[in-house]
Order: sequence, then C-alpha cells, then structure tokens
Amino acid sequence: MEKIALVTGSNRGIGFATVKELLKKNYKVILTSRKEEDGRKAIAKLQKYGEVFYHPLDVSNPQSVENIRTYVERTFGQLDILINNAGINYDTWQSASDADLTKVEETINTNLMGAWRMAKALFPLMKQQKYGRIVNVSSGAGSMHLMGGGTPAYSVSKAAMNALTIKLAADGQRYNILVNAVCPGWVRTDMGGMTATRSPQKGAETIIWAAEIEDRSLTGKFFRDKKEIAW
Ligand SMILES: NC(=O)c1ccc[n+]([C@@H]2O[C@H](COP(=O)([O-])OP(=O)(O)OC[C@H]3O[C@@H](n4cnc5c(N)ncnc54)[C@H](OP(=O)(O)O)[C@@H]3O)[C@@H](O)[C@H]2O)c1
Repeated sequence: MEKIALVTGSNRGIGFATVKELLKKNYKVILTSRKEEDGRKAIAKLQKYGEVFYHPLDVSNPQSVENIRTYVERTFGQLDILINNAGINYDTWQSASDADLTKVEETINTNLMGAWRMAKALFPLMKQQKYGRIVNVSSGAGSMHLMGGGTPAYSVSKAAMNALTIKLAADGQRYNILVNAVCPGWVRTDMGGMTATRSPQKGAETIIWAAEIEDRSLTGKFFRDKKEIAW
C-alpha cells in the first residue's frame, strides 16, 4: 500500500528538504505552508521528484488544523507519517527574566501547541489503521540535560515538545503509532543561518530515519544522527 506523509512548515528550510527526500523514497507527500503562494512555489520545484500534494496550514490556528484533517481524511483516508516541523523564534536576543511574554506565548503556540494540535487531529486516523509515525522536530536547545540560559521561549517550547513526545508515544504504543523527537543538528536555513554546519538535506536525514522506524521499542525517544540523546 502507498504511504502518505504530511510535513508542517514545508515551503522552505528543513521541512522542504524533508518533503524532497520523502518523495525520492516514493511516499506521497502533502506539502503545507502558511501562505499559499509560498507553498505553490515550493511544489513547483518538487514535482519532478514524485507525487506531491498541497494544502495550506497554519499550525497556530485550530481551524486551519481542522481543515487539513478533513482534507487528509477525505482525500486519502489515511496518514502514515506526520512530521511536526513548523517552528519559530530562536530568541537569542532575550533571557527568561526579561522575556517578552507575548513572544513566548506565540512561540509556545506554534512550536508546542501546533505539534500537539496536529497529533491530536490525526491520531484517530492512525489509530484506525493501526499504523503511524510521528516525528517531532525538536532541538538540542530543548534538552534539559544540556540547558543553560539563553533562547528562553524557544528552549522551553522544545523541552515541552519533548515531554509531549513521551506522552504521545505512550498513547500510540498499542496502535503501532511510534512517536519520537529529533534534533536535526545546526542547519543552514533562515533559522539556523548561513554559517550553520549542515545542509537542509543532512538535517532531514534523521527525521526521515525516525519516520521509517520499524522496531516498536523505539518510541518516546530523542534522536540526533540516528542515535538516542539525553532529554
Ligand atoms: N535550523 C536549525 O539549525 C535547527 C536546529 C534545531 C532545530 N530546528 C528546528 O527545525 C524546524 C525547521 O526549522 P528550519 O531551520 O527549517 O526553519 P525555517 O527555515 O525558519 O522554516 C520554518 C518553517 O516553519 C514554518 N512555520 C512557522 N510558523 C508556522 C505556523 N504557525 N504554521 C505552519 N508553518 C509555520 C515557516 O513558514 P513561513 O515561511 O510561512 O514562515 C517555515 O516553512 C523547526 O522546528 C526548528 O525549531 C532547526
């Protein structure tokens, strides 16, 4: 049976590279973007790699998440892979004690609640088919083990995303829904900057590896370079 994958925030950066690599592996992929124009431009670059579909998606907006859930259900009736990639606000300019809390809320609403909304919306389809792979694109900045000061909104949102990963994994276990968090490393994107050490394709590598895990004991974990790392 053909497998369907959906990647949030995939008009550019790591999300775009993830769609491209999934297409090369013969998945049918739903590319999503906040702005339709950006999504259509991205799709045009990817059509030669395989069967790519488009739907608008703003993960910070519950109605937008509901719209894509309906689209997935009606168009495909299944979803095998969900990549929660959309992320914002690597807030190097502030610290926790003086943070702009409006910005913090905005960051949490996208990075944590966006992933949570998407997982909640699409879990029933995955449960029904007794198969699902959810990859939460997290960051070493969210690792409690390594955490110091700096990037407060971003780091707290990713630490919470890591906690969400464990919770979802527990819910998914009986249904062969595996849920893992992945740090892509430091990647050359608008967020990572052009001096970052990794290409977007390299950043996508472990995300795709986690989306294809067969071993059902590998769930509720945090990976970088296909190896488990500390939360
Ligand atoms: N780059 C790194 O070094 C690095 C390191 C560790 C983790 N990460 C994580 O990797 C993921 C991708 O990062 P990136 O470097 O590729 O960032 P990026 O180039 O800034 O791309 C972010 C993507 O997320 C989308 N997005 C933002 N808010 C959204 C929303 N509310 N709904 C839907 N899409 C939304 C953006 O869409 P627009 O074009 O509309 O803004 C864009 O497509 C993020 O979760 C990030 O935290 C990145």
